[in-house]
Amino acid sequence: MIIVGASGDLTKRKLIPGLFDLARKGMLPSRFAVLGVSRTDMDDDAFREHLLEGMNRFGQIGKSEKDLWNGFSRQLFYHAADPSDHSSYQALSETITAIRKRGQIGPHLLWYLSTPPRLYEPIVELLGASGMNRSSEADGWVRIIIEKPFGYDLESAKELNRKVLSVFDEEQVYRIDHYLGKETVQNILVFRFANGIFEPVWNRNYVDHVQITAAETVGVENRGPYYDGAGALRDMVQNHMLQLLALTAMEPPVLFDARQVRDEKQKVFEAIRPIPSGAVALRTVRGQYAAGTVGGKEARGYLDEKEIPEGSTTETFVALKLTIDNWRWAGVPFYIRSGKRLPKRVTEIAIQFKRTPHRLFLDIPVERLGNNTIVIRIQPDEGISLRFGTKVPGATMKTRPVTMDFRYGASFGGRLADAYTRLIHDCMLGDPTLYARGDSVNAAWSLITPVQDAWKENETPVFPYESGTWGPEAADEMLDRDNRKWRRP
Ligand SMILES: NC(=O)c1ccc[n+]([C@@H]2O[C@H](COP(=O)([O-])OP(=O)(O)OC[C@H]3O[C@@H](n4cnc5c(N)ncnc54)[C@H](OP(=O)(O)O)[C@@H]3O)[C@@H](O)[C@H]2O)c1
Repeated sequence: MIIVGASGDLTKRKLIPGLFDLARKGMLPSRFAVLGVSRTDMDDDAFREHLLEGMNRFGQIGKSEKDLWNGFSRQLFYHAADPSDHSSYQALSETITAIRKRGQIGPHLLWYLSTPPRLYEPIVELLGASGMNRSSEADGWVRIIIEKPFGYDLESAKELNRKVLSVFDEEQVYRIDHYLGKETVQNILVFRFANGIFEPVWNRNYVDHVQITAAETVGVENRGPYYDGAGALRDMVQNHMLQLLALTAMEPPVLFDARQVRDEKQKVFEAIRPIPSGAVALRTVRGQYAAGTVGGKEARGYLDEKEIPEGSTTETFVALKLTIDNWRWAGVPFYIRSGKRLPKRVTEIAIQFKRTPHRLFLDIPVERLGNNTIVIRIQPDEGISLRFGTKVPGATMKTRPVTMDFRYGASFGGRLADAYTRLIHDCMLGDPTLYARGDSVNAAWSLITPVQDAWKENETPVFPYESGTWGPEAADEMLDRDNRKWRRP
């Protein structure tokens, strides 16, 4: 496995911990090596030290795992080179051959592109030009994992797809969206399709609307320059949140395999009605955090963060109303919101059901009865809850909503594996079910790009919101207009 961009943050924070977890579980092939490639000058030992320091810092290694690490780290190598320079590839090829020979490693090759996204195209091109996109042996495979973001807008995503597919076949390409590797996200499919009682009510006849929330308490931290060029719509909605929406809304696939699952998701993307530019002001809200207090701590505003250009209009909060034009979901809005510096870190999908058709308990105010809601909690406190009304014990007829709760921690104990562990392993096995296919990436951008264009033309203002609140009031007003309210998770 060759990690390009190996001196970076992702490698030490996620990729190496993910691989080490596979080693811990005995799931790595015995003849296996990782070669890190980037420009920073290091030898193998310095690379191993750098990674171990990351493992310790992020709490990814137990006190008793020293021997395991020592064995694992002997399979880690480093090659200093600029991957965007064609002259690097001859020496790189020689290093790969030498490592292969020494470890009797077979013919397969897994590339992991973990560089700044502007380098994906040139690197892919150079892999093609140097013949490293194909195995030299008949029984070998070459695959490539490409990190997010995949494109910047519809045009650049199409261009990147074109370039990648001129060098690799679609079966070789694994576009990673780490949300799909989360246990809780995979469980959406199990919850829906391995149980008989939910699917019959999972449609327009019973569901009033769906809310998908991804809230963070943190600000842009030290990712200011990257974030300012992206914003919440690109950073969260185009990939993670639309993937959650697709899993929530898709039809049951005929088989649980990569083609069938991804075909059904694609149909959802194609059925989402793009927001017409004239409706962008009514169906989207963008906001930017101002100073405030989060978790009892004072927080500065976005414009005062490090390396944020003066007067930036990048959104740190976004809310959207989407509709899906198909038989199952016609008339059911999907409200999506994501933001930084909100009061709570939570990602959840809430299915709000319609009220009862007949009000039997006339003395009880409608709002006390509430709606039945199924909440799938993606993170943290992973689990699923069902909210329903019950009678408060006593002589009078009073009701109160209560929840039935499933918690991963309580039912299964232990910590859930990180998404990267699962996804890297799937790629090694050649299973792309939990990766995004090229057509779905393009389809997601084709929903997002018209919103970006309308925003650019300044059809909607960027509303400031106080850090530590649930975003701008305009987001509440968007739901008020539909006689609905955002949940307060
Ligand atoms: N970090 C995360 O948690 C995270 C999460 C999701 C997705 N991602 C994505 O994963 C990718 C890698 O993220 P990261 O945080 O590891 O990025 P990073 O720390 O900024 O660096 C990635 C690597 O790219 C190399 N690089 C930078 N500029 C280069 C240039 N001009 N020419 C050649 N190499 C260059 C750097 O190595 P040298 O300077 O040594 O060459 C570095 O090792 C990005 O696309 C990011 O969007 C990251």
